Amino acid sequence: MMNQLSSRLVVVSNRLPVVLEGKPGQWSIRPGSGGLVTALSPILRNRGGLWIGWVGTSDTIDIPGIKTVLGPASEASGYRLLPVFLSEEEVRLFYQGFSNEIIWPLFHDLQTRCRFEPDYWRAYGEVNRKFARVVLRHAREEDFLWIHDYHLIPLASMLEDSPKQLRCAFFLHIPFPPADIFLKLPWRKELVGALLRYRFLAFQTERDLRHFLQSLKALFPDSRAHREGDLFRIDADGRTLRAGSFPISIDYRDFDTLAQSRDVRRRTREIREKHGHRKLLLGVDRLDYTKGILERLQAFRRFLELHPEQRGKVTLVQLVVPSRQDVEAYRSLKEEIEKLVSRINGAYTEMGWVPVVYLYQALDRPGLVALYQAAEVALVTSLKDGMNLVAKEFCACHPGRDGVLVLSEFAGAAVQMGREALLVNPYDLEGMAEAIHRAVEMSEDERRRRMGRLRARIRQQDVFWWVDSFLRASSDQVLENFPEADL
Ligand code: ADP
Ligand code: G6P
Repeated sequence: MMNQLSSRLVVVSNRLPVVLEGKPGQWSIRPGSGGLVTALSPILRNRGGLWIGWVGTSDTIDIPGIKTVLGPASEASGYRLLPVFLSEEEVRLFYQGFSNEIIWPLFHDLQTRCRFEPDYWRAYGEVNRKFARVVLRHAREEDFLWIHDYHLIPLASMLEDSPKQLRCAFFLHIPFPPADIFLKLPWRKELVGALLRYRFLAFQTERDLRHFLQSLKALFPDSRAHREGDLFRIDADGRTLRAGSFPISIDYRDFDTLAQSRDVRRRTREIREKHGHRKLLLGVDRLDYTKGILERLQAFRRFLELHPEQRGKVTLVQLVVPSRQDVEAYRSLKEEIEKLVSRINGAYTEMGWVPVVYLYQALDRPGLVALYQAAEVALVTSLKDGMNLVAKEFCACHPGRDGVLVLSEFAGAAVQMGREALLVNPYDLEGMAEAIHRAVEMSEDERRRRMGRLRARIRQQDVFWWVDSFLRASSDQVLENFPEADL
């Protein structure tokens, strides 16, 4: 019997796990960044399958050259990478526009940052149709199609008219906003209607799922949703589907093992020495306004103001990886962060101590793990976040159980980690400053007790647990209509 657990897995997401750089004839690839890539790469490495997605460049002239570079990358990764090509205009309207100037801010409760341009909506549909054509060329009926994230919500509806019957489930990596925010979207009914085209829908947290159900009820008043164990059965618009919440995670063992390797321990010591064995606070983020980087810096400044005795003893290392630089809001954020860092450093630097070390670069995995391990406190202060994998990575990289996690109550990770982390409201600067103080002053006993529990939970609920629970839960639902695929 074929089911999701044994079928070939076809992952479809806007991005492939690699980004192509360079120009025709001189392409090179580097790993992509962000939680989706971090979480899904180990799954496909483990199971094999296909990954369909955009290559991250708008060059559509040198398609043969690009395919030549992707071939060896596929072999190296153990699964096939199938590219979707987007023109410059599609990148502008679909990716920068609808995805990142409408859905991204709206779903993170930042509706005033949205630009509701009708051209964006049209391009969103057209590019999803393009993805559907690539999927139809490569997917087989016995495959299990797992579609990811907000760029591709309409994909199932675009596959429906094909004679090929494909089994599709959807996972939303970002939050789903409360109805009073979601309903501002001019294309709200179309988007919710498109989600109903999946046999199985998954969200990061129960809160996101409930928000979706609120909007569903408002837009489809005849719809019904009721609990069936851990899932919800939804009857709406002539469809029946199931929905559930599945908190995404990391390859815990991979981070933990690396943290204990000789090379990373050496690098960890070097980082600590370089910083004069001061306490290190750490922020690691894509450069994104949802991550609350400005608010975190302001809170750190307030902490230095309120606790002058800590000056010279504590350093904040803020690592950011460049992201979405063609979207105006991201460009201006970079400038604001740089200004604020210089203002804090201008006000507090002393001979031999700089309060904020700001790094604007992507680190390789061992470099990142060493930095996590060298830091005593992680500051994860997102204004809103689907999950936030940095919080989990930090814990996995502390085999000595000596770290403290300061975590936003608005990150999905707070559901699993909220009891042992120090929870903060990222809009409350003084509250955050106090949490930083509490974190740096926490006794070793308390630190080890909290971190021990956090590590145990992430070890148990790692990314393989996540994919397993998702596939098990979606199995019966997605197969229900396809009995012939079972034989
Ligand atoms: P998002 O998915 O919104 O980017 P997450 O916290 O879930 O947020 O995931 C971010 C991922 O990107 C993590 O796996 C983190 O390790 C990685 N990352 C963030 N900043 C850097 C950086 N400067 N260098 C390397 N990896 C980074
Ligand atoms: C988040 C989103 C992903 C996205 C990633 C990086 O994790 O949920 O879908 O890929 O950010 O953003 P980018 O725009 O570079 O793909």
